[in-house]
Amino acid sequence: MTSTPSPKPSRSPQVETTDIVFPSDTNTHGTMFGGKVLALMDKAAFLAAVEFAHVPFVTVSMDHVRFITPIMVGEIIETHSRVAYVARTSLVARVDVFRRDPYEEKEPELACRGWFVLAARGKDKRPIILPELLLETDKDIEDAEFARRFRERSLAWRA
Ligand SMILES: CC(C)(COP(=O)(O)OP(=O)(O)OC[C@H]1O[C@@H](n2cnc3c(N)ncnc32)[C@H](O)[C@@H]1OP(=O)(O)O)[C@@H](O)C(=O)NCCC(=O)NCCS
Repeated sequence: MTSTPSPKPSRSPQVETTDIVFPSDTNTHGTMFGGKVLALMDKAAFLAAVEFAHVPFVTVSMDHVRFITPIMVGEIIETHSRVAYVARTSLVARVDVFRRDPYEEKEPELACRGWFVLAARGKDKRPIILPELLLETDKDIEDAEFARRFRERSLAWRA
């Protein structure tokens, strides 16, 4: 059975985090270890989901993650996350990771992007019906369509 807290349609705020890459975060190439990047992204996806719906979530799937450019030790990394699509009791969050040199005044560079499916589960482990997501801009609509297709593919691969 499903918990039903009568959700109101709502926007998804963009959630931003900032961190620095320490030597303990790196691999043998001296660049940030992919597993550490994934952990940050998973956390960012969770924060986006919680700030949107204010209920507990678990990560269901993180199949579509692309490492675009390496992140170097000593760099600042920022995550920008937002809910892109809401199904019934699950949603898809988009997470972008940016890198920048703390000593240069340059725009941050996109280093990694991923799409994460999270499911809302109460403390009683029952699924929770989520609020409808308000899509306000063309970018919101484009992201929602990409996320919807990603979720369908993820469901098709369901073990
Ligand atoms: C995620 C989990 C609760 C799903 O359990 P389940 O029995 O498949 O539950 P349901 O069938 O009710 O699915 C729950 C929601 O997830 C969605 N879902 C399940 N598997 C999915 C997949 N592979 N891809 C995309 N969505 C999926 C379902 O469509 C449903 O959402 P909807 O109501 O919006 O359609 C369960 O697999 C689990 O607990 N996994 C471990 C989670 C975890 O430990 N994560 C890491 C730490 S947070």
